[in-house]
Amino acid sequence: VLVEKQGFRHFMLKEIYEQPGVVRNCLEAYLDDNWNPADVTQSPINLGISPELYADLEQIQILACGTSWHAGLVGKYLLEQLAGIPTMVQYASEFRYAPAPLTANTLTIGVTQSGETADTLAALEMEKRRRFGQLPKYEPRLLGITNRPESSLGQLVNQIIDTHAGIEIGVAATKTFVTQLMAFYGLALDLAWRRQTLTATRMEEILVGLRQLPAQIELILESQERYIEELAHSFAETHDFIFLGRGINFPIALEGALKLKEISYIHAEGYPAGEMKHGPIALLDAKVPVVAIAMPGTVYEKVLSNAQEAKARDARLIGVTPMNEHEAAETFDDLLPVPVVEELLSPILTVIPLQLLAYHIAARRGLDVDQPRNLAKSVTVE
Ligand code: G6P
Repeated sequence: VLVEKQGFRHFMLKEIYEQPGVVRNCLEAYLDDNWNPADVTQSPINLGISPELYADLEQIQILACGTSWHAGLVGKYLLEQLAGIPTMVQYASEFRYAPAPLTANTLTIGVTQSGETADTLAALEMEKRRRFGQLPKYEPRLLGITNRPESSLGQLVNQIIDTHAGIEIGVAATKTFVTQLMAFYGLALDLAWRRQTLTATRMEEILVGLRQLPAQIELILESQERYIEELAHSFAETHDFIFLGRGINFPIALEGALKLKEISYIHAEGYPAGEMKHGPIALLDAKVPVVAIAMPGTVYEKVLSNAQEAKARDARLIGVTPMNEHEAAETFDDLLPVPVVEELLSPILTVIPLQLLAYHIAARRGLDVDQPRNLAKSVTVE
């Protein structure tokens, strides 16, 4: 397949712009339009996962690398908070040499957009081997989340959730990340429905919210890109960035920092905002901008007060917040506004301005955005 830039300066920017469309692909693939909320036997989500994989689940373990590991962290939040299943997330490169003790009725999920990352494949193979021939409750149950169902991952696992993002050329993952998140929304909602941890009303509310996401991403792209491009100019001399988030947006802080490191070569750290006082706050001064993800919900006031602590150290504060949030507008020096959205669904929106910020800083520096130094699209060696 020949993939072209279609007038975009880089594949990464084109792929950022494809996100409304690929999120729509996921909604079409995962949501059952004929769902009847009154019928408890019928899930609103259709992932085609066989009941044996789900039966009596007591635990989930997610194995991944890089950006896919960040998607796994959001997945953990959703699986625990929506479906009530204890979930751990491990770097595949760590898990393969120090696996957790075997737990019963455990679903292992490998997340890899390429389906070819050596560490992720090896960790899953190891898990399959050590569980094989054990008591039925310890036997392997492997699920893959990937953009390449035909990959090596596809051969290894019992079942796949296809992320339908289309081919991604830019080394820094963008559209494959948001679609991995979509796969986790699908999985967590499916499990929540089957385990009856969500009411029909709450389920409908979340589904309505999910369907609004493509248009909301479009709105960010249309209304913010120019401004973010301008903002990026002021970071030409910046050497360090801190990204703060909490709860479901902590992994997005990690992802924002990773995007920036990967393509702009600026040092960046993602941190859970509440942990800043235990170390990173010592780094702050007027030369270190702080990007805080502050979305109304369980941790909103907490993040705002963490951001104020950074401001007191003269840091330039940039807030990813909902449009028209006046409290936030007073706290931050610069705003990266996103449409109003419930906290649970916000990662799909909050990551977009962070991708654009990293992109424009790197492009401004004249760097090879699609092929950053020392990185590969998929790492097929250990
Ligand atoms: C490489 C890429 C990253 C990616 C990681 C995991 O390091 O540069 O963008 O997140 O591999 O890739 P995977 O295909 O397993 O998701």
